[in-house]
Amino acid sequence: MSMATTHRAVTISTQDMTAVATAVSGSSPARSNPRAPRRMAKPATPAPTTTMTNAMASGGESVASPPDRGYPPPRCAGGYAGTLAADLAAALDPVVLARRALGTEPDSWQRRLLRSTAPRVLLNVTRQGGKSTTAAVLAVHQALYAPGSLVLLVSPSERQSGELFGKCLATYRAAGATAPSVHETTQLLTLANGSRIVSLPGKEGTIRGYSGVSLIVEDEAARAADELYLAVRPMLAVSGGRLILMSTPFGKRGHFFEAWTNGGPSWERYEVPATECPRISPAFLAEERRALPDRWYRQEYGCSFEETVDQVFSYDDIEAALSDVPPLLPLLSQGVA
Ligand SMILES: Nc1ncnc2c1ncn2[C@@H]1O[C@H](COP(=O)(O)OP(=O)(O)OP(=O)(O)O)[C@@H](O)[C@H]1O
Ligand SMILES: [Mg+2]
Repeated sequence: MSMATTHRAVTISTQDMTAVATAVSGSSPARSNPRAPRRMAKPATPAPTTTMTNAMASGGESVASPPDRGYPPPRCAGGYAGTLAADLAAALDPVVLARRALGTEPDSWQRRLLRSTAPRVLLNVTRQGGKSTTAAVLAVHQALYAPGSLVLLVSPSERQSGELFGKCLATYRAAGATAPSVHETTQLLTLANGSRIVSLPGKEGTIRGYSGVSLIVEDEAARAADELYLAVRPMLAVSGGRLILMSTPFGKRGHFFEAWTNGGPSWERYEVPATECPRISPAFLAEERRALPDRWYRQEYGCSFEETVDQVFSYDDIEAALSDVPPLLPLLSQGVA
């Protein structure tokens, strides 16, 4: 049955949704998530319900069937859109969506991030550790299950934003057309539910003008200009949206380093060196250690913020030299005497 022609509503209690999602995902979806789908029922009394359309119930996935509570059984017409149960499971738990996109289980830090609701997140993760993949799942989950969302992808260059956008498109396709797309370019995905994912060029002057932003993902944040970061942050002012900065380090400088080092508890931090990535073998790392300069190896694979090559004084020495204690001879310190 075509998705476009079927919009008959079904009503499901939240208890049903919880039972179904637990059966499908194998874990409790219970999480207090401010980004939870707006279509989901609020915990109301006495019999909380939500209305879903059976347009969502096409495709098939090998999942447990929902208990028979009198509502129509899901249609299975192929693809990953899956049963209504599978869709609900993905809505309630981004890890379910990640499993579809990856075809395998996300790493433990990826699962933790996918289930996190922290509004400010820093990912200091090894090269090839899975940052972009995970962020793409979060972006698509936001767009699919919070209708009307605006997700912005920024990075130092248009090409890098495009890479991340490509991962979003792949994830969206793996998820199935729960919300059909109405417009798709190399920089923009617009869904029928009003959500958009936009890939932005890395130039501060050309990215202003967006408002009501639900999620900003900055890729390669350590290499992105501070001006870019300063330009996008205010876009979250009214919407209360979420900000994720992800990178490998690039010296003790810039907004990524500052947030990681001095940003305080408002940031949720993830540090994942290559030794903790199950896909990067010890043999490969040994080869890289031999091939690369030490500080480069530590930066790329060890989550280490290294001194920049042209730095005359070390960051720690400069920090130590800056003291709150007033100088004994203030005039001398100002070069006046
Ligand atoms: N949990 C996972 N299981 C299997 N493969 C994964 C997993 N996470 C990521 N990958 C794969 O690992 C590779 C690197 O992932 P990704 O591009 O997301 O890493 P990255 O940290 O963004 O890398 P880079 O630092 O180079 O930008 C990709 O091929 C991706 O599909
Ligand atoms: Mg990446």
